[in-house]
Amino acid sequence: MFNKNIETALNQQVNMELQAYYTYLAASAHFEELGLKGFAQWMHHHAEEEMTHAMKIYHFIHSRRGHVELFALNAPRQDWSSPQAVIEDALHHEQKVTASIDEIVKLARAEGDYATDSFMQWFVDEQVEEEEVVDDLLQKLSFIEDFKPGLYLLDRELAAEAVEVTPVEQ
Ligand code: FEO
Repeated sequence: MFNKNIETALNQQVNMELQAYYTYLAASAHFEELGLKGFAQWMHHHAEEEMTHAMKIYHFIHSRRGHVELFALNAPRQDWSSPQAVIEDALHHEQKVTASIDEIVKLARAEGDYATDSFMQWFVDEQVEEEEVVDDLLQKLSFIEDFKPGLYLLDRELAAEAVEVTPVEQ
């Protein structure tokens, strides 16, 4: 029998990953409307990654004969004062996701659920990378500040990266 506390925590994590999907999708739409297509593609790629994270947990709950419960999503923020503000929001969301994943690992260990502990290690590692890539982008933007040609070049760099990006990991 799947532990109820773990099941609830995992369902909340599915919601959080879907909320992250929504956050990145809103950011992608925002950049698309600004004509920053490289940023828009970068955000869209990350939105798709979040969907795969949600589905990974969704399938895991089912594999343990648990019940998937889909909670309501909040409307994401859709208006920002600068590209930096968008990326700061994304980083803040990633930090919240990391904290939530750490809590699930703690809970799994406290409940003696080593299968969930092992499963969640993929997410622990993934969050290190997720926070790093968002923080790297924020750092690049901090060099540019309000220098428009710099923003244009970074947008081109992100567009080129998006072309090279391999399909989203399942
Ligand atoms: Fe799935 Fe970016 O956290």
